[in-house]
Amino acid sequence: MKICWVIYNGSLTSDKFRDQAELLADAAKRAGVKAKIVMNYEVMMSLNAQLEERPDFVVFLDKDILLATFLKNVGIPVFNDPEVIETCDNKAKQYIQLAKNGIAMPETIIAPKVYPKFTIEGSGYYEQVLDKLGLPMIIKEGHGSFGMKVYLIETEEEFFAKVDELRGIDYVFQEFIETSRGRDIRVNIVGGEIVAAMYRSSQTDFRANITNGGVASIVELTAEQKELAIRAADAVRAEFAGVDLLFGDNEKPLVCEVNAAAHIRNIYNVTGINVADKMIEYILGKLA
Ligand SMILES: Nc1ncnc2c1ncn2[C@@H]1O[C@H](COP(=O)(O)OP(=O)(O)OP(=O)(O)O)[C@@H](O)[C@H]1O
Ligand SMILES: [Mg+2]
Repeated sequence: MKICWVIYNGSLTSDKFRDQAELLADAAKRAGVKAKIVMNYEVMMSLNAQLEERPDFVVFLDKDILLATFLKNVGIPVFNDPEVIETCDNKAKQYIQLAKNGIAMPETIIAPKVYPKFTIEGSGYYEQVLDKLGLPMIIKEGHGSFGMKVYLIETEEEFFAKVDELRGIDYVFQEFIETSRGRDIRVNIVGGEIVAAMYRSSQTDFRANITNGGVASIVELTAEQKELAIRAADAVRAEFAGVDLLFGDNEKPLVCEVNAAAHIRNIYNVTGINVADKMIEYILGKLA
């Protein structure tokens, strides 16, 4: 019998992280795999000792990239691959990769590194960004989830306050896709195939995230949406991906982001599709 670890972050106390791990562990058990839910800090990353236990594979639901790398380096298959988790965990890095692969997305400018104790205000750099993207615009931190680090900037005053506040942090400037205000599509992909999708919309916020008050419903994807979502997951080499799509001019799909550890509870409730079963099936097929 194969053994799998489902790893999530033990410092996150919200029930949804444990719930996500349980969905995966239950799916593994249904497939005849012995599954154990493991919190990241329960694995001692001792570099000069052997691991006491070794699973046959790990489903990695967290962003503890060092742990994912540590496990991969001792020869344990980790899903997603640590490099994919790392790319997706930093939106700036991810957009560079998406652009390299010609993926349609909002116009995006990666903010230059500014050391926290210094400033480039007065250099004219930020004025150029304002000229190129106009207002309103989106500023998005590299590391953020549930829409919490995504800002709609409407005035120059807000713009300069935000760039000042973000000194020392990776972030991007992005065209605000007005035609997508409060709505997007989440597409879950497993091994290059679309397994579920939902439409998310919010009456109260420009962000469609359910955690921000968005409401989800079933959606039939267009051929163009399907193709773009699959290409986006492929561009960052994600075997499991939650791709967010925006609606551009004439509903033209644009990639908002690719999540490497997308939550699957909401999409399960909305569509009845348990993405966890597909993930486990994919892994077992790959390891066979
Ligand atoms: N350029 C944009 N134009 C219009 N709306 C956007 C844009 N970027 C993001 N949004 C809205 O904000 C929401 C959150 O943005 P994004 O998905 O990039 O970050 P996140 O949700 O914090 O990340 P995660 O999905 O990992 O939780 C999107 O679902 C979308 O509704
Ligand atoms: Mg998102």
